[in-house]
Amino acid sequence: MKTNPTWLWDETVAINRDFGDRAVVAAYDERHRKFRDIDGENAAILARLDLRPDAAVGDFGCGTGAFARLAARRCATVYAIDLSAAMLDFVQWKAKEDGLDNVVCRQGGFLTYEHDGPPLDAIHSSLALHHLPDFWKQRALDRLAGWLKPGGKFHLMDVVFGTENVEANVEAWIAHTAAQGGAEVGDSIRAHVGKEFSTYDWILAGLLERAGFRIDSADAKGGVLANYYCTKA
Ligand SMILES: C[S@@+](CC[C@H](N)C(=O)[O-])C[C@H]1O[C@@H](n2cnc3c(N)ncnc32)[C@H](O)[C@@H]1O
Repeated sequence: MKTNPTWLWDETVAINRDFGDRAVVAAYDERHRKFRDIDGENAAILARLDLRPDAAVGDFGCGTGAFARLAARRCATVYAIDLSAAMLDFVQWKAKEDGLDNVVCRQGGFLTYEHDGPPLDAIHSSLALHHLPDFWKQRALDRLAGWLKPGGKFHLMDVVFGTENVEANVEAWIAHTAAQGGAEVGDSIRAHVGKEFSTYDWILAGLLERAGFRIDSADAKGGVLANYYCTKA
């Protein structure tokens, strides 16, 4: 088995801080639904990925597994991968409740997960890659590309900044989310910008391309969120 370098980024810090607590996990969907149309997002992503019924798909940083469980209704196997055991327990419970037996929960980080299943037809990751600084984002994207079949699809959604009107965009985003979800949600967005590792669109595009992805489309929302649909070249 490959040993990790002694200088490996400690992915568990963010998990223990934000996603290790069962009560936080249980409340996650309700909190996010205040400012996100999670089901609409996932339906649009799945329509765009156009998965075959025999496809094997990975959902990286799957959280409560909303995407993984919807994808599992359309394809053969979904690997729901997350570093948080509390998140995965929730996914497993929900999948069982939904009568799904093709959601495979695997505990692992972007930098440490070892995929022992078949090469994947598609990978989806939303709101998770920003937990890594840019040096480590590249390592993570290289690893994700390695698990995909040639021609496989990668969809990435995350907080990504444009380079114009940055302050106005961030202020507008905080105000918008606070209006939708309350002051606490606005505060969490403020904390995200101040403390997490979301990067600029031109950096992320470069990282994706260097990992061997062709960017088929990149849609930016308000200069603060972006969806990248990519193909493994
Ligand atoms: C903000 S949540 C996003 C969950 C879900 N994808 C969504 O769109 O709602 C971030 C998720 O990424 C996971 N995560 C954070 N850092 C990670 C890492 N280095 N490797 C794998 N998962 C990670 C967290 O445990 C959490 O479930």
